[in-house]
Amino acid sequence: MSLEKNSTLNHVSIIMDGNGRWANERAHQRVWGHIRGSSVVSDIVEEADDLGIGALTLYAFSTENWSRPLTEVKTLFSLLKKFLKKEKKRIIKNQIRFKVIGDITGLPEETKKLVSSLEEETRTFQGLKLTFAFGYGGRDEIVQAVNRFIKENPGKELDMNTLDECLMAPELGDVDLLIRTGGDQRISNFLLWQIAYAELYFTQTKWPDFKRSEFRNIINEVTQRERRFGSVVETNSLDSSLTLAEKNKQELKEMQIGTP
Ligand code: IPE
Ligand code: IPE
Ligand code: MG
Repeated sequence: MSLEKNSTLNHVSIIMDGNGRWANERAHQRVWGHIRGSSVVSDIVEEADDLGIGALTLYAFSTENWSRPLTEVKTLFSLLKKFLKKEKKRIIKNQIRFKVIGDITGLPEETKKLVSSLEEETRTFQGLKLTFAFGYGGRDEIVQAVNRFIKENPGKELDMNTLDECLMAPELGDVDLLIRTGGDQRISNFLLWQIAYAELYFTQTKWPDFKRSEFRNIINEVTQRERRFGSVVETNSLDSSLTLAEKNKQELKEMQIGTP
């Protein structure tokens, strides 16, 4: 099944949560959950590609996750490396455009090289835009974007469109759907700016148990939701809603001017 071309779900993002609890429930160490969880990633990427989603952004390691025990942090780093090595061929074969957002300066050299070479090799690909948020924090991203703007435009005022352009991956656009696995209902500093009008979906399923079929069902269900973006009729984007708002404001202003 492929999404309609004019589907409102172009950018889907996932907070892949619940690995540690999944492992603990099975009397295993938390890292076991990460290992099992990382094998789910390939399936979900493939499903997103099959569904014709434009962009999939996965939260793999937050700025706050640095405070976890070192062995766990190291496991998460090594799983990123393994994923890149294992999936490189498939990513290229499927014309997937790969990118990492966040601060990966703390990663081992070999992993950083794998990231940058895959980013470079897939830079011009037109398929699914697959983005890993690694060493990522939403507040961090906004602060960096503002600082970049100030540096490049001293003395100028920042507007919303320009802030969009200063983000780490502006081409991804706003998030249409944010899914969080693992049962918690919070954002945990993920894509704070981009989720302003995202549909939210929280599932109890812990990430290692998350299946392609559940992902597909969520996409189908959320595609049926009526998205109004503040309007009273269904609209297909926040931009078109804002255009209408501007038109209304202008008309009202003209009417007031015309009033004696
Ligand atoms: C999500 O699973 C993976 C990362 C945060 C890297 P957790 O490790 O947070 O698992 P829980 O939420 O403790 O079960
Ligand atoms: C969010 O999960 C980060 C990732 C999934 C990478 P956490 O488990 O770190 O978030 P909290 O601690 O429940 O907010
Ligand atoms: Mg968690």
